[in-house]
Amino acid sequence: MTDSILVFYGSYRSDRLGIRLAHYIVAALNARGARAELIDAQAIGLPMLDRMYKEYPAGSAPPALETLAGKIKAADAFVFVTGEYNWSVQPGLKNLTDHFLEEWFWRPAAIASYSAGRTAGVRAGTAWHGILSEMGMVVVSSTLAVGGIAAAFDAEGLPTGDGGAAVTHAFPRFADDLAWWTEATRAQKARRAPPY
Ligand SMILES: Cc1cc2nc3c(=O)[nH]c(=O)nc-3n(C[C@H](O)[C@H](O)[C@H](O)COP(=O)(O)O)c2cc1C
Repeated sequence: MTDSILVFYGSYRSDRLGIRLAHYIVAALNARGARAELIDAQAIGLPMLDRMYKEYPAGSAPPALETLAGKIKAADAFVFVTGEYNWSVQPGLKNLTDHFLEEWFWRPAAIASYSAGRTAGVRAGTAWHGILSEMGMVVVSSTLAVGGIAAAFDAEGLPTGDGGAAVTHAFPRFADDLAWWTEATRAQKARRAPPY
């Protein structure tokens, strides 16, 4: 069965670099036989959180919210690509995720962090771990952590130099871990309906 994976990315900066890592992950997951789709928070353009999706009467949510809710509910797994702003998460991606709660439940999530410097965004990755757990996802232990993001990929998201080689080396374990939990959660849901 083909794994349907949503890859979330949330920088709104004009000169954003993490989009290269997001493109790489989507392409690499698809090359493994998954059906991966980029969810670019800037392109979706949700406003600052007013009402969560579930707070709208059925059928009356704004179209972008309705479409995204459908994609999240239908997905088998998630990847969160996170940069680090002042030791923590990027607001665009956090704003998008906060629009939903139950829609995230009972699926695995993997975290890929990056930054311009050597610390590779791991403080933001650590913050996301708790956030994703609170939102009902099983967070897999394998991570991608990419330092020096500007040199690790070209503009099309192809790995370059030592940084790119390190990502290429780490990716199979990251994807294998997520795939194992994707299969496990799918099988368990088929065996027994989630308790709530
Ligand atoms: C507001 C702001 C805060 C930042 N804070 C950090 C930080 O705490 N740690 C870090 O390693 N890099 C930090 N950076 C540098 C980012 O890692 C780098 O700009 C990265 O490219 C941001 O991701 P983006 O290009 O996808 O927006 C910061 C950048 C911005 C714009």
